[in-house]
Amino acid sequence: MTRKVPRHVAVIMDGNGRWAKAGGKVRLAGHRAGADTLDRVMHLCREAGVEYLTVYAFSTENWKRSKTEVSGLMKLLSSYIRNKEKELVANSVRFRVIGRRSDLSEKLQAEIANLEEKTKDGAFTLVVALSYGGRDEIIRAAKRWRDASKPGSDLDEGLFSSFLDTADIPDPDLLIRTSGELRLSNFLLWQAAYAEFYFTPVLWPDFGKEEFEQALEAYSHRERRMGARPAK
Ligand code: FPP
Repeated sequence: MTRKVPRHVAVIMDGNGRWAKAGGKVRLAGHRAGADTLDRVMHLCREAGVEYLTVYAFSTENWKRSKTEVSGLMKLLSSYIRNKEKELVANSVRFRVIGRRSDLSEKLQAEIANLEEKTKDGAFTLVVALSYGGRDEIIRAAKRWRDASKPGSDLDEGLFSSFLDTADIPDPDLLIRTSGELRLSNFLLWQAAYAEFYFTPVLWPDFGKEEFEQALEAYSHRERRMGARPAK
């Protein structure tokens, strides 16, 4: 029997700071190693037949970190976006950003728009959550719906979903969080309604092929009822 593979994997890439500390390095070195892990995991996803990978790169709460860490992370994101164009196009990867883009510098916003445009025909989708918070996304979607509809208009789940940042992206099937934390931390609150969760104590920079395989294996054994109880 062929193994059940998630169509969409979402990841809370946690533990970069602890990884850096354990190796006597600065926190940013942990984030740099985390960016390399992202490349490896994206490759593993494509090999396995996953079609969408969404990663939590910077939350609305992350702005409260030290100036040095915030500016280091922004520079890392900017250089990732500038340096990856060729590779993403060559590998047919569509790059997308979700989150409150207006919080980002105009330069970074322009780099993102450029990469999204250049990769728009890719077959595999990499979604990067930047200045993202699930509650914030829901509020922004509600405001967009309000501004686009006549007073008294009806609303249902499908219509509301079309106002979210993830409008054309299917909900995640498998959500992985590394580093032993057992929380959703405001990530994909609406979209993760029926996702299967996989938690591992491994720190994100150490997350590799073996751990990814274990997550896929665990997923393949889960029975997903989506609230229903199918007849035996
Ligand atoms: C959480 O670890 C990680 C982050 C807040 C940043 C994640 C960002 C990257 C992996 C950068 C690369 C991303 C792209 C798209 C190039 P933490 O710092 O909270 O770790 P800790 O809990 O151990 O301190």
